[in-house]
Amino acid sequence: KPKLLIDTDPGVDDALAILMAHAHADVVGLSVAAGNVGLAHTVRNACTLVDLVGAATPVFAGCPSPLVRMPEEDAAFVHGSDGFGDIGFPAPKAAAEDEAAALAILRLTREYPGQFTLVALAPLTNLALALRLDPSLPQRVARLVVMGGAVTGLGNTGKVPAEFNVGFDPEAAHVVFEAFPHFDLVDWEATLRYAFDEDTFDRWLAAGDARAEFFGKVFGTARTFNRSRGRRGVIAADALAMAVAIDPSIVTRSESRHVAVELDGRLTRGATVVDWAGRLQRPANANIVMELDADRFAAMVRRALGAP
Ligand code: BDR
Ligand code: CA
Repeated sequence: KPKLLIDTDPGVDDALAILMAHAHADVVGLSVAAGNVGLAHTVRNACTLVDLVGAATPVFAGCPSPLVRMPEEDAAFVHGSDGFGDIGFPAPKAAAEDEAAALAILRLTREYPGQFTLVALAPLTNLALALRLDPSLPQRVARLVVMGGAVTGLGNTGKVPAEFNVGFDPEAAHVVFEAFPHFDLVDWEATLRYAFDEDTFDRWLAAGDARAEFFGKVFGTARTFNRSRGRRGVIAADALAMAVAIDPSIVTRSESRHVAVELDGRLTRGATVVDWAGRLQRPANANIVMELDADRFAAMVRRALGAP
């Protein structure tokens, strides 16, 4: 079983990814970022998930804001104002540890050097802070998988070409992309290519266990939002990145390129700039996931929901 340390801002699709991780991997910890909604909610939601899966996974609260500039938007309009569909879940029994997320990331990578995969499902604030404290962090991580970026410029933020995780804290993404010599990048456009058919997904929810019942509830606001955009289908960005983290052999085609983050730009702050033509003559840092085995991805999700 792979060992995973997950940086996350739950978040509907984060929830699905965390259920997958507990079903298929050994989860060393959840470090929590602000992003989809504020840190108090994302930490609470992480604790709710730990209760749900009945694990003793430690939760570490991270930085409550981006490194430099407050973003213009969060994603409450997709995930609900509490990040979990405004269901009003009871207060979780699990609680966050005292240790800050960035410090926990450094400590855990020292305790298990080279043994685990870092999975970044949120704005990269915590990872950037950890890297600034200890630039040797990448040497102690077996792999880094990032859900972020919009490599063809489609994006999903108010600013046309940016993806949410990178657009929320571009400086943090810049620090991480410059510091890690090699990471797997699951971008927004990949998540659109691998959305689930809604009727199929609903059948899994109906056939699953308490995890499916839970996910069916938190998914409500995101479903309504998708419909308001005339979309059907279950877009599960973080779940796709988690599939790549759990089993890299699921990827059938990827492109190795240098990816940078635009920090200024009149129209493009937070955009990921992919050097497709190799003009910058910089070594490729990102392995951009282009195609993967959709059936195996589906099977991983089904099992995480307790569906046959
Ligand atoms: C990413 O942003 C968040 O809203 C999702 O949880 C995912 O991590 C998609 O752009
Ligand atoms: Ca997320």
